[in-house]
Amino acid sequence: MQTSTDIGELRGILDRFRRQGATIGFVPTMGNLHAGHISLIEQSVKQCDFTVASIFVNPLQFAAGEDFDTYPRTLADDQIKLAEAGCDLLFTPTAEQLYPRGLEAHTKVIVPEVTRHHCGAHRAGHFDGVSTVVSILLNIVQPTVAFFGEKDFQQVAVIRKLVADLLLPVKIVSGATMREADGLAMSSRNQYLSAEHRPMAAGLYQTLQHIAGRISAGEKNFLQLQTEGLAELAQKGFRTEYLNIVRADTLEVASERDGDIVVLVAARLGQTRLIDNIRITRSHDKPFQG
Ligand code: PAF
Repeated sequence: MQTSTDIGELRGILDRFRRQGATIGFVPTMGNLHAGHISLIEQSVKQCDFTVASIFVNPLQFAAGEDFDTYPRTLADDQIKLAEAGCDLLFTPTAEQLYPRGLEAHTKVIVPEVTRHHCGAHRAGHFDGVSTVVSILLNIVQPTVAFFGEKDFQQVAVIRKLVADLLLPVKIVSGATMREADGLAMSSRNQYLSAEHRPMAAGLYQTLQHIAGRISAGEKNFLQLQTEGLAELAQKGFRTEYLNIVRADTLEVASERDGDIVVLVAARLGQTRLIDNIRITRSHDKPFQG
């Protein structure tokens, strides 16, 4: 696997493959790769002729006081994992290359509506930073398909809207959340958990499963479910930012008539912020009687 830090060099390599009619798969990441990232690489390797990954800890998507400085950077390990998974090319740009006039002066891409709630309401400017860097990276790589993990469910929705609204010629594919043996969603931030908090963290997904089970069993009072879920998380030691039962397409509040629902959660254990989600698809066999 080749690593390139140069935009011109990367474009040259990819142009040659494109001219030969090769399809290009792209997995943008911030590094510190785990099985979730690697499963996206494997999907790309299966579906595309040539696979590109990027590692860039994007300063624009971190607010002041967030973990930009401490975000784990493990390039040498990541290169080994990517090569083993069959990645063809790794792109590791610097902030100076992507934002040559600095963060403030750089043009921003702002996706409305789908960014209003959930993480968008709790992390000021986060999705503007994600949309901007993803737009830049998609313009550099010009992939046939780009792959994103479903743990960041709202991020996938934002990127789908960005690509649809700007008519970008790329297919977006999302990959299932990979989990530790106890159910905790894999995340680079899990290593921030203390020895005391790590076993407690599995309780987040258990609460989501509990709520999903109740919805699947026909519970219609979503507000009540949210209230119970919040109480359950508090009792397990979490400080919950949000626990929302929403439509999977718009991420707006779900009603009992909706068939494709996702429960989104962000909660803290100590200083560690965890996000997760669970999706419930229901077919309404019986006509709704309201
Ligand atoms: O999900 C991530 O790792 C990042 O938000 C992304 C998509 C690579 C943009 O920096």
